[in-house]
Amino acid sequence: MIDLWKERVSLRRYAPETIREEDMEAILSAALSSPTAGNQMLYSVLKIEDQKAKERIAELCNQQKFIAAAPTVLVFLADQYKWYNYYEMNGVPEYAREEGIAYHPPGPADLLLAFEDTMIAAHSAVIAAESLGIGSCYVGSSLVNEKELAEFLNLPEYVVPLMVVPMGYYPNNFKRVHSQRFEKRFVVFNETYHRLNIEELKEMFRSREEQYSCHAQTHNNKNFAQYYYIKKTGSSFMNRMAQSLERIYYRWNSKHALSKKTKNTAQ
Ligand SMILES: Cc1cc2nc3c(=O)[nH]c(=O)nc-3n(C[C@H](O)[C@H](O)[C@H](O)COP(=O)(O)O)c2cc1C
Repeated sequence: MIDLWKERVSLRRYAPETIREEDMEAILSAALSSPTAGNQMLYSVLKIEDQKAKERIAELCNQQKFIAAAPTVLVFLADQYKWYNYYEMNGVPEYAREEGIAYHPPGPADLLLAFEDTMIAAHSAVIAAESLGIGSCYVGSSLVNEKELAEFLNLPEYVVPLMVVPMGYYPNNFKRVHSQRFEKRFVVFNETYHRLNIEELKEMFRSREEQYSCHAQTHNNKNFAQYYYIKKTGSSFMNRMAQSLERIYYRWNSKHALSKKTKNTAQ
């Protein structure tokens, strides 16, 4: 597994064959066997093969065309809708009231658990796929146009399209180019957190800076940090993701906070 994992790359170009049914079954069964908080499985998976649907998803995920070129796109949905429907179907709000326990709609902690569960399931799918010669690429920009994507996928409330994963077999003669990682000493600390000093930070970023100096610089940036900030961290797509996340958080938090307030007032 470790050797396989070290060979993996994010795959954005796919062999034209559709994914064999038994392979897809194995991938989904690995996803569904993932660890899950409280054994709740707070996610759903949409398997999308319709070309028009893949194209629309690609468009909504910040115009990333390679998504539509994959034979299958799995959309991993953080999902509290099923459990909360089940609670309500079984009189949990009334029961909680009788017992004097707070009953609240999904709140921030429920959102976090659903996100964690969803990503762990997605990652199991990615690993299983890789073991079958099927490459994939995480697409986190599903939150850039979260509202439109949720509408397009006809998602109910408390379901968030957290991660889009296009997948397909590696094309013939595909040359894997591995992107470099930071060295272990900058990431793994023994026993206590180590605050990297200026020299260590410089060493940590040295190879990225070297790569940066090989490329044409844009927007008058003078170093890798400035280049990267404008390209990613401070980009408009990150701002749009932040707005989506604020909206999701608001939707999940406001009713939750209100229910706590009502409860406190009642007490
Ligand atoms: C949470 C997450 C979100 C990502 N989103 C995108 C994306 O929207 N588009 C894309 O092309 N790659 C995306 N990637 C893939 C990364 O760019 C890729 O993993 C990274 O550059 C390292 O390259 P490697 O996976 O080939 O080792 C994402 C990866 C992760 C983990």
